[in-house]
Amino acid sequence: MSKLRIPTLAPIALAATLLGGAAIAAGINSDAQGPQEGEQKEQPGEHAEEGEHGGVLHESMESLQKNMKGLRRLLGKPEAKEQALTMCAEMEMSAISGFMNPPESPDGLEGAELRAYQADFKKRMLKVTETIIDLELAFDSGDADAIKKIYRSLGANKKEGHDIYIK
Ligand code: HEM
Repeated sequence: MSKLRIPTLAPIALAATLLGGAAIAAGINSDAQGPQEGEQKEQPGEHAEEGEHGGVLHESMESLQKNMKGLRRLLGKPEAKEQALTMCAEMEMSAISGFMNPPESPDGLEGAELRAYQADFKKRMLKVTETIIDLELAFDSGDADAIKKIYRSLGANKKEGHDIYIK
């Protein structure tokens, strides 16, 4: 009988993400001390100050990218399933972290318009998450054609999102 596979780090990172919006799937943040006195903790929907890391959304995108590249090398290797599933789990955390940190409006949108802009973004990140879950299932089934097809749709999710949200 098949067992439900729950990535061991997922609940921890997701909880951290929901609490602070600052945990990203690239790793459980090594900045364990959190904000120092007088520092403002970043809230979901905000970008961090420009700096070394460029904000939570940027970090989550970099993590998606790193794992997508890694997965590309594993597409025709069913024997590398465990490695692929680990990458998928990390991507799911990154996508949820992105969901929690939508971009600010580049056009000075406010109120309902800004909400609509960010709501569409969030739905797209959920779609990315769903596609990655499908990819996990395809790796489990060992169906190489399905794996490649779903990987391509992940690329399409990315392109559509970037066409709208990166000017
Ligand atoms: C697996 C899917 C995706 C991957 C691998 C990915 C990858 C990336 C990468 C590498 C960057 C940094 C680009 C740079 O700095 O030059 C980026 C930025 C960005 N992406 Fe994605 N992306 C994905 C999906 C999406 C989707 C679906 C959306 C919109 C709904 C989106 C919106 C953005 C935005 C707004 C930025 C700029 C954020 C920032 O760097 O501060 N991405 N993405």
